[in-house]
Amino acid sequence: MELEVEIIRLGAQGDGVAEGPERPIFVPFTLPGERVRVELDEGGSGHAGLLEVLEPSPDRVAPICPHFGSCGGCALQHMESHVYLRWKRAQVVAALRSRGLDAEIEEVRPVPLGSRRRASLALGRFAGRLALGYRRARSHDLIDVATCPVLSPPIVASLPKLKGALAPLLGGNGEAKITVTETGAGLDIVAEGLRPTAATLGAFAGQAAALGVARLTVDGESIAVGATPTVTLGDVAVRLPPGAFLQASREAEGVLVGLVRESVGGAKRIADMFAGLGTFTLALAGKAAVDAFEADEAALAALAEAARRTPKLKPVRTFIRDLFRSPLGAKELQGYDAVVFDPPRAGASAQAAELAKSRVPKLVAVSCNPGTLARDLRLLVDGGYRIARIVPVDQFLFSPHIEVVAHLTR
Ligand SMILES: C[S@@+](CC[C@H](N)C(=O)[O-])C[C@H]1O[C@@H](n2cnc3c(N)ncnc32)[C@H](O)[C@@H]1O
Repeated sequence: MELEVEIIRLGAQGDGVAEGPERPIFVPFTLPGERVRVELDEGGSGHAGLLEVLEPSPDRVAPICPHFGSCGGCALQHMESHVYLRWKRAQVVAALRSRGLDAEIEEVRPVPLGSRRRASLALGRFAGRLALGYRRARSHDLIDVATCPVLSPPIVASLPKLKGALAPLLGGNGEAKITVTETGAGLDIVAEGLRPTAATLGAFAGQAAALGVARLTVDGESIAVGATPTVTLGDVAVRLPPGAFLQASREAEGVLVGLVRESVGGAKRIADMFAGLGTFTLALAGKAAVDAFEADEAALAALAEAARRTPKLKPVRTFIRDLFRSPLGAKELQGYDAVVFDPPRAGASAQAAELAKSRVPKLVAVSCNPGTLARDLRLLVDGGYRIARIVPVDQFLFSPHIEVVAHLTR
């Protein structure tokens, strides 16, 4: 059904929201104040496709990517940059308010275009043609990505050739998930759903150097085709296990590390929880002894190995630990001057509840989910901590997501 509606606000996913006859209607790629013609999705989901902007907002700008509007990777390229950053900050304000927290929130720190070093793409056939790219929003359709202003240019440049070289590995399979990471040794590719044979793998390996591919991992099994992929964290080269977490943008990582360093100040004994490969551990270990806690054994082993061969660091100890099930208790937390915790999207409620009972003077929470961050901060504030600083970082350009660093003291 076609309708004309007025957009009254943006929803949490960046879609415009209009009052429908029975319920709100969500229209992607629209802005508050705009009058738009839309096609309502069947099935009563409340979502609609944008057909035409009848009265544009003064905040509307031309998107910088020709795929914008069809590709599901970006939701917010049509928004003037200051308005866009204000909207991102407002997401953090709203999340904290929903937990009764009224802290001062700084301006969003932007990150440059072309700084994303990891992309998760789909490889398959769509409309009779081979495609390597993103899905259309709320659809299984595949957009063959020829250009992407968010991704690092070397990754974008590699895509057409990678598509051709990976296609024979699809075997009879319709589609595969391909994650491409730019590393110090070349591209690291992790694939799920390929059906390679010895012959197709051999053919891929033969082209790998020309493609700039350092390693291909298919369903957990790595084929080393070049040098071991490494990333540099805090001036230290760290071996990258296939699929280990990495901050999405190197530039955002630099901003996060800077904010964490400022927050821990002169702390001499630090716990880094959800430490991953050691993004914060290795940056802080120049000046402080750091204990790193993490559930991913391969990531922690790479961190431990990097710390061992870097003599200029203060002592780094690593502990495999599931911090959801077995958070550090108040007793174990004694003696740390600062704790950094950077959990996955689910947050760190069990650990936050223990930290709330502790006497650790400085805490730094790093989060990619303002909702779970706000929940965890509420626990800490109720335990007597004061929020000293909150800084949003626009790590996920043009998406509705935002990274946040929160500094707490007691
Ligand atoms: C957002 S990443 C942060 C990693 C690291 N701080 C960094 O900046 O690169 C979250 C990390 O939490 C780890 N993780 C997930 N669930 C966990 C759990 N239950 N206990 C401990 N670590 C966990 C993941 O393996 C991942 O390394």
